Amino acid sequence: MSIPTYSLNDGLAIPAIGFGTAKLHGFAATDAILSALDVGYRLIDTAMNYDNEGAVGKAVRLSGVPREQILVTTKLPGRFHEHDLAVAAVEESITRMGLDHVDIVLIHWPNPSRDRYVEAWQSLIECRERGLVRTIGVSNFLPQHLTRLVTETGVTPALNQIERHPFHQQSAQLAFDAELGIRDEAWSPLAREHWATTSPVVSDIAALHGKTPTQIVLAWHVASGVVAIPKSATPTRQAENLDIFDITLSTDEMAAITSLDGSGQRIVAEDSTTHEEM
Ligand SMILES: NC(=O)c1ccc[n+]([C@@H]2O[C@H](COP(=O)([O-])OP(=O)(O)OC[C@H]3O[C@@H](n4cnc5c(N)ncnc54)[C@H](OP(=O)(O)O)[C@@H]3O)[C@@H](O)[C@H]2O)c1
Repeated sequence: MSIPTYSLNDGLAIPAIGFGTAKLHGFAATDAILSALDVGYRLIDTAMNYDNEGAVGKAVRLSGVPREQILVTTKLPGRFHEHDLAVAAVEESITRMGLDHVDIVLIHWPNPSRDRYVEAWQSLIECRERGLVRTIGVSNFLPQHLTRLVTETGVTPALNQIERHPFHQQSAQLAFDAELGIRDEAWSPLAREHWATTSPVVSDIAALHGKTPTQIVLAWHVASGVVAIPKSATPTRQAENLDIFDITLSTDEMAAITSLDGSGQRIVAEDSTTHEEM
């Protein structure tokens, strides 16, 4: 299975579809990630706060896939938004994974009440200079947070991982990020379990293409130029979620999905101006 890639602003080629690992734990997590790597995923998304970096690293090491073909993303939690703590947290993530570097590190949330995400960003820049990390980016950053990072450090993130699915399409954030040369990555790209049952628009398009609603949603992400990281513990669904690159959505179908924006719930009301995760 060959997955198309996007080129990031630092030159890294990132697969259009990656694999989410939130809520996967223990040996079951390693099994699910081994299966994902076996069916062809080459981008694995974890975070220190998912408590599964060890399971992710074990799967990467056991998979038989050459290390250089796999991109592992982890995320820096808010409680480590201080220079030395942030550097140590990146070193700890790598240690937990049993790897010698991590490919991508994102600041997980801006946590504006602490107001130290610029300091955290400076630490990630240093980790990249030391070769601990290849690519650095952010998650859940709004325009005002991104503007401060760029203005105060001169370094633009390569990625912004944000909640995005047909019910919450983030067109203004996407346009802002594109202006800065930042690639967007969709978390909860399937809106978890909500989307399939509540959107006949997607089901109708799926029936016309002989595909599943999930596959149509993922094809819509790809057509939008957004990286998507669906999570599934189920090997058949993992394969289904990669079997999408033969789908071409028409202009009318894209418009029909665009019309769903705001018609369903966000996952949780995680507004980055107020939501804090430590
Ligand atoms: N940066 C952040 O703040 C942030 C926040 C949330 C999530 N994330 C990342 O984004 C990843 C994806 O988001 P998510 O896990 O919240 O939700 P998601 O990927 O939108 O949806 C996952 C759910 O969809 C089901 N599913 C997957 N493929 C399916 C298919 N083909 N047919 C039917 N159901 C299917 C899964 O079930 P089974 O597993 O039972 O198959 C699971 O219940 C996370 O795992 C995490 O890595 C990041």
